Amino acid sequence: MNQRAIDEYFRFLRFPSISTDPERAADVAACAAWLGEKLASLGLKTEVHATARHPIVVARNEHRAGRRTVMIYGHYDVQPVDPLELWTTPPFEPRLENGIVFARGATDNKGQIFAHILGVEEALRDGGQLPVNLIFLIEGEEEIGSANLETFLRTHRDELRCDLIAISDTGMVARGVPTFTYGLRGIVALEVRVSGPASDLHSGIYGGAVANPATALARMIASLHDTEGRVAVPGFYDDIPPLEKWERDAWAKLPLGDADILALTGAPALFGEAGYTSLERIWGRPTAEVNGIGGGFQGAGTKTVLPRETFAKLTFRLVPNQQPETVVEKVKAHFAAHIPPGVTATFVGGHGGEPYVTDPHSSFGQAAQRALKTAFPGAEVALIREGGSIPIVNTFRKVLGVETLLLGLALPDCRAHAPDENFPIENFFAGIRLNRALLAELAGAEG
Ligand code: BES
Ligand code: MN
Repeated sequence: MNQRAIDEYFRFLRFPSISTDPERAADVAACAAWLGEKLASLGLKTEVHATARHPIVVARNEHRAGRRTVMIYGHYDVQPVDPLELWTTPPFEPRLENGIVFARGATDNKGQIFAHILGVEEALRDGGQLPVNLIFLIEGEEEIGSANLETFLRTHRDELRCDLIAISDTGMVARGVPTFTYGLRGIVALEVRVSGPASDLHSGIYGGAVANPATALARMIASLHDTEGRVAVPGFYDDIPPLEKWERDAWAKLPLGDADILALTGAPALFGEAGYTSLERIWGRPTAEVNGIGGGFQGAGTKTVLPRETFAKLTFRLVPNQQPETVVEKVKAHFAAHIPPGVTATFVGGHGGEPYVTDPHSSFGQAAQRALKTAFPGAEVALIREGGSIPIVNTFRKVLGVETLLLGLALPDCRAHAPDENFPIENFFAGIRLNRALLAELAGAEG
């Protein structure tokens, strides 16, 4: 089983299913088709649904009355691979070295969702039955905001009815430490364009008499924060509930702290909102991030030019009671009040996803924690929130009316979204055990 499992996992990893890249659309579709065939080969009733962009794969066992219905969600799309030159070996040629698999998607999310699929395969082979009614819902647009999944949920609500959802697409606080995630930050994207003269200008002929859009944009970006790392957008922190004492205490005891984060990031020092630890800043507080700035001369050497236009791509991470739309409106109003003289600014909103927090002590939450203990024997379960986003999770609650359990297997140094993404093969096999334990626990848990 082991070598065959790894071979199949590698086949899954070889599809360059980069959802954001229009040139990869056929590869994304091929990956969905392969996944559909894999699920069908287990005897699951499988459909690969076309959408306005990338397919959604749904598979189910034979559902029986009186059994609990569990949905396992995951995604087969991956992030772009640039900068390609920083990969030790090519991102879509997986390799196993010293027990670690290197490839784009190794962790996020192919390794984790495929472990669930192999857990189901194992159960069906051994006993012929799963203990629950199961639905796999595996999409190809998670990394671009799950734009078509909400409509799909609404139009297929009856077939997707379930008692709860499980996802392995979050992290573990350290190797061997089973981790239950009870919260995710939300996200909202915004692009700002700052324009000045009708065309690029000679900076000697006109510089000094015409506002420079790059300088103006820099001032606008600088206005987003105060000197103590707080976001300075009026109303940004409105209605955010304070972190609870139990969670601050629990996080402070985890085997992951400032020194680890300093080492993991390679930053010269840590910096963030005054009054919070790094974990609190990442998991429990909202942020404003500049993801990229462009415009003006970027080539080798110098060019004495005053650029016509510059832009910045921003995302904001959100916590409970912050709504993507409202936050974007507040940011736009803030920027509008900070446009320096002599330029104009336009805004393009991007994808968004709401934050999510669930009760880790619910009966399903406890069942999930028992399953984590079975998959990682002898270790205590860490209860955490995460700074990343899975945009569809709060939509599951709104459209399907169910809670989501987040049982992630990613390690802090997995390099998701970065060169040399990797996943320890021990976590892959732990994921297979986790699937089996989870379905067994959920079958018996009180609803
Ligand atoms: N698996 C991640 C989400 C994640 C990362 C959760 C780290 C917890 C810790 C997911 O695939 C992801 O990267 N989501 C994007 C969503 C965005 C592009 C809309 C994210 O968080 O940036
Ligand atoms: Mn991701």
